[in-house]
Amino acid sequence: MRHLLTIIMILSLQACVGEKSGLKFSAPDPGGNIDNLTEEQQFAFEELQQKVLKPSNCLNCHSGLATFEGVQAMFKPGNPEESSMFVKMEDGSMPMGGEPVTTEQLEITRSFINSFSVPVEPEVVDFAVIQQRILVPHCIQCHSKVTSEEALGKWINKKKPLKSLFLSVVASGKMPKNKPRLDVKEQMLIKKYLEQI
Ligand code: HEC
Ligand code: HEC
Repeated sequence: MRHLLTIIMILSLQACVGEKSGLKFSAPDPGGNIDNLTEEQQFAFEELQQKVLKPSNCLNCHSGLATFEGVQAMFKPGNPEESSMFVKMEDGSMPMGGEPVTTEQLEITRSFINSFSVPVEPEVVDFAVIQQRILVPHCIQCHSKVTSEEALGKWINKKKPLKSLFLSVVASGKMPKNKPRLDVKEQMLIKKYLEQI
């Protein structure tokens, strides 16, 4: 009985929200066109669902966000600052009526959006590039202290940079822990960074 009541409440809330805003709410369609995404993007999408959209109850009001198609309408590939989803979470206006999202949830959203950027190969791979392309999207969620070149130094073998833990754990697939292996381009970035040390 309580379940039924909850369902009715959610349904009427959706109806009311939909009417008020003129938004269209489509039924969840887990099929979508997610198969066209790379493994990394599918992983990022799954993470966005499990760690951000579901716990923040976005789906209660925006049921379309259960599909990739629905999410796609709310972001600009590779550009978080111009993605309505990111902007509304950052400024706290979404989730409407709920607790603002955490910094970690915001970072998960950012890396999801960034996983759709077309990487431009940088000429010089300095720490800023490593931070933006490797550490923020793949490492700092667990290694929260690795936010400076100095901190990264503990994973670097100064005498033989190419023998650094930073490269070996990534090349072996040991890190990022329990996550998809970094792609070849990302591993090349790390190599290029180490070569110029
Ligand atoms: C209680 C219902 C509710 C919840 C929960 C909610 N929203 Fe909304 N959302 C709305 C309504 C209503 C609007 C339209 C009015 C407005 O923009 O203020 C809206 C508008 C938006 C918009 C701008 C319109 C668009 O389609 O681009 C975005 C983006 C958005 N929501 C994202 C989210 C995200 C992401 C979450 C979860 C973190 C979320 N919302 C949670 C009700 C909700
Ligand atoms: C999901 C959490 C998680 C992520 C993401 C992650 N790590 Fe780790 N990392 C760990 C844990 C936990 C350990 C401790 C050893 C173990 O359990 O394997 C560790 C250990 C390490 C070590 C060995 C440290 C030492 O002193 O021996 C290195 C190097 C490392 N990680 C690098 C990285 C890099 C580089 C990334 C990003 C590409 C990354 N990790 C992403 C959880 C993570």
